Amino acid sequence: KHALSIVKMKKMKQEGVPLSMVTAYDYSSAQLVEEAGIDMILVGDSLGNVVQGEHTTLPVTIEDMVYHTRAVVRGAGNTFIVTDMPFMTYHGSIDETLRNVRRIMQEGHAHAIKMEGGREICETVKKIVQAGVPVIGHIGLTPQSVNQIGGYLIQGKDEQDAQRLLEDAKALEQAGAFGIVLELVTEEVARFISEQISIPTIGIGAGRYCDGQVLVFHDLFQYASPYRSKRFVKTYGDVGTMIREGVSQYVKEVKDRSFPAENHVFTAEDHVVESYMV
Ligand code: KIV
Ligand code: NA
Repeated sequence: KHALSIVKMKKMKQEGVPLSMVTAYDYSSAQLVEEAGIDMILVGDSLGNVVQGEHTTLPVTIEDMVYHTRAVVRGAGNTFIVTDMPFMTYHGSIDETLRNVRRIMQEGHAHAIKMEGGREICETVKKIVQAGVPVIGHIGLTPQSVNQIGGYLIQGKDEQDAQRLLEDAKALEQAGAFGIVLELVTEEVARFISEQISIPTIGIGAGRYCDGQVLVFHDLFQYASPYRSKRFVKTYGDVGTMIREGVSQYVKEVKDRSFPAENHVFTAEDHVVESYMV
């Protein structure tokens, strides 16, 4: 049913075909990105930032991720969907972790989960993979550890840090992860890691040589106000301006009574409005 499987992803890496991934958090945007031909959707805990308006991803809960995943799956039923495990939901007992994973998979209907961390989470990754759940790792800048890292800092800048990232990537591969997100890693180090492992790397601010790329939906389209651009993002449209201008026009037309117009109104001959059904 899905255009993509984790088996096919590995094959794409071998063939040098890049993987495209974007975040989505709701039904409507999920429909649009599926229609546009995206390979994979990430229901990222970045929804804490761009949907909930929090400063970090830390407040996001399992309930939030289940809710948003369900909406995305309904919109993009033929796309491979990965959901983030939120902060502190995979660090307790293995029973508690598996309960949380079960909710994402069984209530949210995701196809895979993403977890931040390297060697320290590998035992957990193994157990989840053994349960039949595909896991993608996430190393480099891991936003759930921002209070420990001390900011959104570029990772892999010296030999020791590069070595640490490589060891983490290899350990995640060994643990059975089907891929690894590399966030804010120098291009040189991301390239080296990508060459050293057989599973695909998906980069965000990690240069040109990853096996795939992921971006946050809202960043692609400047869908925020005020929009603050990031160096590693390319914007492909400005829906922020479009929505602001559109809504201000709507407000004006309501005020001057030019909306609704004659073609928007009902008479006694009218019966049902079909387009209520999505
Ligand atoms: O939550 C998210 O959007 C992510 C990507 C930035 C990789 O984890
Ligand atoms: Na995330």
